[in-house]
Amino acid sequence: MSNPARCVNVADFKALARRQLPRPLFDYIEGGADDEVTCRSNIGAYDRFELVPGFLRDVRNIDLSRKVLGCELSMPLILAPTGMTRLFHPGGELAVASEAARAGVGYALSTMATTSIEAVAGTGRGPRLYQLYLVNDDGVNREMVERARAAGYDALILTVDCIVAGNRERDLRNGLTVPPKLGLGSLSKFAVKPLWCLRYLASPAFDLPNLSSGKGGDVSTLASYFAANMKLSITWDDVARVANWWNGPLAIKGLQATNDVVKAADAGASAVVLSNHGGRQLDFAPAPIDLLADVVDHLGDRIEVLVDGGIHRGSQIAKALAMGARACLVGRSYLYGVAAMGAPGVRRVIELLRQELERTCGLLGCASVDELGREHLRLAGLPPYFLADRDVPSSPSDSETPLRSISR
Ligand code: GLV
Repeated sequence: MSNPARCVNVADFKALARRQLPRPLFDYIEGGADDEVTCRSNIGAYDRFELVPGFLRDVRNIDLSRKVLGCELSMPLILAPTGMTRLFHPGGELAVASEAARAGVGYALSTMATTSIEAVAGTGRGPRLYQLYLVNDDGVNREMVERARAAGYDALILTVDCIVAGNRERDLRNGLTVPPKLGLGSLSKFAVKPLWCLRYLASPAFDLPNLSSGKGGDVSTLASYFAANMKLSITWDDVARVANWWNGPLAIKGLQATNDVVKAADAGASAVVLSNHGGRQLDFAPAPIDLLADVVDHLGDRIEVLVDGGIHRGSQIAKALAMGARACLVGRSYLYGVAAMGAPGVRRVIELLRQELERTCGLLGCASVDELGREHLRLAGLPPYFLADRDVPSSPSDSETPLRSISR
């Protein structure tokens, strides 16, 4: 096994994951909808903000902890719900959940997980969330909510942006089926990764145990799986029903329009995850970081606002927190870790994100994540005042903080 310490950032894990996984599976993690414009802009949007350092403050002890959705997190990070993790490494969801618990960060188990709600709960206490997709059978939906409550999950995340399957052309081109079929058509793409094949064939059969009674229909491509099983008409009445079943901290994931977040707050949701599903659903959807300030300024006192999309560095987490996010979710980043080397890979990815966030806070002069604010953000490439249509800055902060005007 490779030594996780030799990976010095998430990109190193991505390179390893690319080497380990059959192409259809790496592409499944990596890919997005249509031309993948949103995938790219999720990352690129972070580059448009610079961080304004602050020095001569005591930052020997930096407190990254924060309470999110009722969970005490050691840092404002939640490992996002992602489906079918056992395809990438036999350790699968158990490896991810146990590393999240060990690190004190959140883990959101997906409805599309290949490990059960109860088995993940069995990995020991930790901040834990269950992500719910609504399927056509409300009995199955309610049963999942009740299983999550019985197993001690802290919060529920209702994902609402998969009412239509995104057009993932990499999956179509690769003929990715659910589960992968090692048949003649796709064999060549899998056979070139014999280690993956041996592990896959030696591990327990592919299953979606949280949907136990809801599976059915044509499970050939992911798109047909969604079409056959997902509830295609989720409305605010469904949100009210789910909130009533759960009766605990509830986040709605996938909202982007401020109006929808107003409705989420009115419906009693505790949190919203601004998300375009990693660019995997609607191409040309905006990057969540670009929506964040508007939503926080309208609703930040009524609802916790979380973001995901494109995050693979602690400095990006710092930017989102400075803008007003309560916490960030990462999906691909930890999947690279688990695909590359199982649990030790996930551990190292969390450790790297923690070190990067801590270092960024220190260089910004913040002794805690609560001290991160808009004064630490600046638009990249802003010309000096005498070349721009701006007055002479009247104070140092005027010149440093063009984002200050978006007050919290
Ligand atoms: C499922 O949630 C996916 O994005 O593949």
